[in-house]
Amino acid sequence: MDGRLIYENLKASLDPVEAAKHSFFHYHTRGMHYVNLLRTPRLTAKVYFATREYRPNINGWAVNPHDHAYNFDTCVLQGAARNIIFDRDENNSNWHYFTYRSPMADGEGFQSQGLAGLKRRTDFAYNPGMNYHLSHDEIHTIAIDVGTVLFLLQYEDKPKSHTNFYHDLPSPPDTSGLYKPMTPHDVERMIAEYLP
Ligand SMILES: [Fe+2]
Repeated sequence: MDGRLIYENLKASLDPVEAAKHSFFHYHTRGMHYVNLLRTPRLTAKVYFATREYRPNINGWAVNPHDHAYNFDTCVLQGAARNIIFDRDENNSNWHYFTYRSPMADGEGFQSQGLAGLKRRTDFAYNPGMNYHLSHDEIHTIAIDVGTVLFLLQYEDKPKSHTNFYHDLPSPPDTSGLYKPMTPHDVERMIAEYLP
């Protein structure tokens, strides 16, 4: 895909009132903000901003390894990103493994499944204008710089009961203070400030 072209087209027709309904500050990670550009059952378009408040976690990543309910494409609009893909490693137990069912869909959130092993399969770097595709069942994380802006095109949800998350602690991740809703003005300000 040409992520930059799709982003420019969506931005030109953006309705900030509609976008704000699904846009949040501190999305999954402190300082990582999410502006929704389009939301339909078949296709969702998102922009993630690693703002000045963003700091990588103890492993140097935006979040810990996880998979998704959907396939998606990512385009780096600004900054730099590494996409790191893992395979399960049955001979290891170096992670605390959780299943996740979204509370927004009546799920019970994170549920501990004990220990599991992961080994790194690939670790590729992407500069502005470069794209990568990820399948829903691939386990990955990203390493990004402060100031990085990512455009994501997310396809329809797969019929799966849960996603998977790998944590370096036995307790589920602390989500307090995350997911603060944006106003339409916030949406416009984020795009103007970080993507002039
Ligand atoms: Fe992800």
